[in-house]
Amino acid sequence: MTGPSFDDRDGKIWHDGKMVEWRDSKVHLLSHALHYGSAVFEGVRMYGGNIFKLTEHSERLIESARIIGFEIPYTVEQINQACIDACAINNITDGYLRPLAWRGSEMMGVAAQKNTIHLAVAAWEWPSYFSPEARDKGISLTMSKWRRPAPDTAPVHAKAAGLYMIATLSKHDAESAGFVDSLMLDYRGYLAEATGANVFMEMGDGKLHTPIPDCFLDGITRRTVIELAKKRGIEVVERVIMPEELANATQIFLTGTAAEVTPVGQIDDKTYAVGDITKTLRADYESLVGRT
Ligand SMILES: Cc1ncc(COP(=O)(O)O)c(C=O)c1O
Repeated sequence: MTGPSFDDRDGKIWHDGKMVEWRDSKVHLLSHALHYGSAVFEGVRMYGGNIFKLTEHSERLIESARIIGFEIPYTVEQINQACIDACAINNITDGYLRPLAWRGSEMMGVAAQKNTIHLAVAAWEWPSYFSPEARDKGISLTMSKWRRPAPDTAPVHAKAAGLYMIATLSKHDAESAGFVDSLMLDYRGYLAEATGANVFMEMGDGKLHTPIPDCFLDGITRRTVIELAKKRGIEVVERVIMPEELANATQIFLTGTAAEVTPVGQIDDKTYAVGDITKTLRADYESLVGRT
């Protein structure tokens, strides 16, 4: 993505209850979050002035923090309002929001029981995660060498900053090899998800198959698309999917707040057509969110 650096933009950021000049929204170097990954965040979208599934995102932010052991000192309603205000003050009607909660600087060590919990919400215009051309013909994926960790190895159901260490490694490997993103297996070798999106596939039986989210994020978009599929009478099968099964898939797509419904055109050497179910659900999703 091009554009000015994210720390050098005009506008304001909602930071600990105040609207702060964009360039002055800072944390101290000795913030626990920076050293020990003690931060949780959300990715939220606004379409035509409406923030899609805002309450679900604010609830998940609070739940992510709880999972990694801290309580955000704001209610769901206050976080919702911060998101609305961050969009309003920056005149955003179609954009992306990034709420972030993190442990501050009072203690600097592994333990951080007394650290203040901070919250910020930034909002900016950001129409598409993958390029429109890539989204039309399907993006390319490669299998990652990194695996999603087991639920007793990491807090897998939190949208926690630390979990993205392997996502960034995977995505960088993919990009270096000429792919757009990577697909990750879990600790058992089952198909899991992409670096920032869930995965669905059709196997020639008219049903949608998707991995059980028992060690990765059960995305809000994933749940939305399951509902949309059901409304269309498409059966959704949540099950263990082995990577070998990708050879038999006829269409594959990713779902996520940023990715929306993005067709997959290639996984390593195998190519996939952008099929009817993918096109239908993508259109249904776009109409649900009110994308114009
Ligand atoms: C690792 C990961 N999986 C899945 C998703 C999809 O989640 P959602 O649909 O709630 O955005 C995201 C994006 O937030 C993600 O980062």
